[in-house]
Amino acid sequence: MSEEIEVGPRAELGAGVVRGAGRYAVGNADGELFVVTRRCRHLRADLANGSIDDEGCLVCPWHGATYDVATGRMRRGPQGVFAKVPGLDAGYRLLTRVVPLGRGTVNEREGNVVVR
Ligand code: FES
Repeated sequence: MSEEIEVGPRAELGAGVVRGAGRYAVGNADGELFVVTRRCRHLRADLANGSIDDEGCLVCPWHGATYDVATGRMRRGPQGVFAKVPGLDAGYRLLTRVVPLGRGTVNEREGNVVVR
């Protein structure tokens, strides 16, 4: 059984907010809370410092890869100079089909968010 981690008051996890909780990045994408492991599959940036884009994806703070928070799969590969590397985008998207970000479960208890 995995350890339960307190994230904080639900009221502080408004739309677009992402924060860290133990090994997880916890956030609110379009009103839905999500929990994914917090290391980017590219160069292990901390996804708890990421943001949410217009499509409800988690955006890596370092090179802008985006993740589907429901599946843990990369939707768009690393941007900037990395976007010019042939096959890199497809390679990472394929990698995360096999090894997606881990997902946790989120619950609300007496106004506080807890994950495990
Ligand atoms: S570390 Fe996340 S896209 Fe590069």
